[in-house]
Amino acid sequence: MIDKLLIATNNKDKVREIRKLFESSNIEILTLKDLNIEIEVEEDKDTLEGNALKKAEEIWKIARIPCSADDTGLFVDALNGSPGVYSSRYAGENVTYADNRHKLLHNLKKVADGNRKARFKTCVCFYYDENKYLFFEGVCEGKIIGEERGEKGFGYDAVFLPDGFNKTFAELEIDVKNRISHRAKAFEKFKEYLTEFNLPE
Ligand code: IMP
Repeated sequence: MIDKLLIATNNKDKVREIRKLFESSNIEILTLKDLNIEIEVEEDKDTLEGNALKKAEEIWKIARIPCSADDTGLFVDALNGSPGVYSSRYAGENVTYADNRHKLLHNLKKVADGNRKARFKTCVCFYYDENKYLFFEGVCEGKIIGEERGEKGFGYDAVFLPDGFNKTFAELEIDVKNRISHRAKAFEKFKEYLTEFNLPE
């Protein structure tokens, strides 16, 4: 059982989310900032697993303590799974979240309501020793609506309606989103693993 986990992200929202999730465990969450590590790892792989592994491995090589990195994408059926692993730069390099949402809505303009199924997927890579790592996945099913709704959240939240809800991720309270989201599901599995099992040799 580990007692410290370094999370390989500079994103404050993710740090807060993950800290909250691990609150009830005996695992201390450390951030790159806590260890004075300044690094931006390029996400240049063509799968979520590839990017998560690359980030976790590069950071493990610097810190040499168990660490995790995650990568997320939005996969839209009517677009053959796009934007997928390229979700952060769907509308190009150095674009805003709004640019990406506008491009998505534009590309789905002629797609009927019944054919707008989509899912967020998060892949967490836990890298705990040289060449030793595990993956955990979380999926949230839903659909892309025809216009933006809501002010909360980030990224594609305002256009994503999770299954079983009539509010978008950007209209739901953050606590609700954090219970049902792809990222929460992936980190829940990861936490359960860390607290219930011994790491394989
Ligand atoms: P990342 O790998 O977590 O940085 O996610 C890649 C991109 O997916 C982000 O730039 C966002 O556009 C989008 N994304 C990730 N998580 C979420 C979410 O919870 N809601 C909406 N969009 C998200």
